[in-house]
Amino acid sequence: MKKALICGVALAFLCSLGIAGISLAEDEKGPADITMTGDAKKPKPAQFPHAKHQETLKCGDCHHGMADDGKQIPYAEGQKTEGCATCHNAEKLAGKTIDIGGKKPLKLDTMKGAGHGNCKKCHTAEAKKDEAKKDLKKCTTCHPKKKK
Ligand code: HEC
Ligand code: HEC
Ligand code: HEC
Ligand code: HEC
Repeated sequence: MKKALICGVALAFLCSLGIAGISLAEDEKGPADITMTGDAKKPKPAQFPHAKHQETLKCGDCHHGMADDGKQIPYAEGQKTEGCATCHNAEKLAGKTIDIGGKKPLKLDTMKGAGHGNCKKCHTAEAKKDEAKKDLKKCTTCHPKKKK
């Protein structure tokens, strides 16, 4: 609480100097680093450097919304984002799939589908384009081995 107060004062000070406010406030950009813990019975946590991706990608490369008829709506500037599992669950997206060139189409009603359909699809494409980035598609890039 006290910390938040100090931060608030510091932020107000920066604003008064005109330094802040050029980009989105930090809390609107979400956490800098995220560990995605998933929805499976045997979770396979994925590490996700969010801030690092925000440097080069658009919010709408990953975030989107959903219309009443169940169709995807593209991200609109400043839109409120939600956790992927809010929609990518068995209730809301049952039966929906996407083909990213694997053996079977991915099921979009799971976090694995949302994660692989977004993250792995791009990493695989990047790895193919650039030899120096070939490690991007490896499982361990996103699912680090447990430390012993
Ligand atoms: C570019 C990042 C990325 C790569 C590469 C990747 N994954 Fe994933 N994977 C994810 C994300 C994100 C999730 C969803 C995490 C979650 O459940 O919140 C996920 C979920 C999973 C799940 C389901 C676990 C759960 O909690 O639902 C399994 C199993 C899995 N991955 C296996 C693999 C294997 C095997 C490979 C390599 C062939 C691989 N992944 C490569 C990002 C990646
Ligand atoms: C490379 C993909 C990617 C990009 C680019 C990206 N995000 Fe995210 N963002 C995510 C993922 C994945 C999560 C975690 C969602 C979850 O836990 O289910 C997240 C979480 C968030 C959260 C936390 C609340 C929530 O939705 O769970 C906010 C806020 C957020 N992002 C805003 C942004 C904004 C603003 C931008 C653009 C400046 C952006 N993100 C760019 C993938 C991305
Ligand atoms: C508000 C609901 C909602 C949220 C939140 C959401 N999605 Fe989606 N997503 C959808 C809908 C609807 C579709 C379209 C499904 C269809 O008709 O095939 C979709 C499709 C997708 C697809 C396949 C099509 C494409 O665009 O590549 C991927 C991959 C995906 N979402 C990943 C994510 C990730 C990753 C997150 C979290 C950062 C996320 N989604 C958050 C509703 C949502
Ligand atoms: C549209 C493309 C794209 C999407 C979507 C994407 N990434 Fe990445 N990711 C990259 C690129 C490119 C790099 C390499 C950046 C660099 O080396 O500067 C990277 C790097 C990483 C790294 C390694 C960072 C490091 O320090 O070496 C991890 C871990 C990672 N991504 C996880 C994820 C996860 C998890 C998701 C989905 C939630 C995701 N990425 C979505 C393009 C993408």
